[in-house]
Amino acid sequence: MAIKHITILFGILFSMGMVLTSFAGDDDDASKQIERHNMMNHINDERISLGLSPQMKKHQLANMRSHVEAMQTIIGLMGDGDFNAASEIAHSRLGLTEDMKKMCNMFDNENFKNLGLQFHKSADALGETLKTKDMNMSLRALHTTMGYCVECHATFRQ
Ligand code: HEC
Repeated sequence: MAIKHITILFGILFSMGMVLTSFAGDDDDASKQIERHNMMNHINDERISLGLSPQMKKHQLANMRSHVEAMQTIIGLMGDGDFNAASEIAHSRLGLTEDMKKMCNMFDNENFKNLGLQFHKSADALGETLKTKDMNMSLRALHTTMGYCVECHATFRQ
């Protein structure tokens, strides 16, 4: 009798184990996990899409990579105490040049366009502040300009 009970008990435990591993099997499927993750990201991404063409997307990302590089250069030059060179980079690479104005005006979304123009103006203000060679004021101006990077990225996506 006792052996029969033990056999039944093992039978139950075994089939429970099978059910559990079949669930775990689903979770271990890497491609399914990535798919689910992407779906969730899409659902949770409430940023406004700019609806760009593939060519505009590529162009924008290249421009953005140039922005982040310019920021790194400015910070490095500030560390070296070369405020004039940092100021020149702020104006020429991030400021409201004719090229940047043209690029911002290519976008249909008015809010995006305005944020872009304000960002470039703040970079010109940063350029002027850097000329004072005042580290604290320059850091504050850098903080303001980077605020536009953060704000725009939180609001818009391609
Ligand atoms: C007016 C809006 C706006 C401003 C200002 C802005 N960006 Fe962007 N940036 C974007 C958008 C839109 C994308 C694409 C994001 C997406 O679709 O997820 C982007 C993408 C990027 C990327 C990703 C590039 C890649 O190749 O994947 C980097 C890096 C970046 N931005 C850096 C910056 C930095 C640094 C600043 C400030 C100095 C800045 N951006 C200011 C709108 C902006």
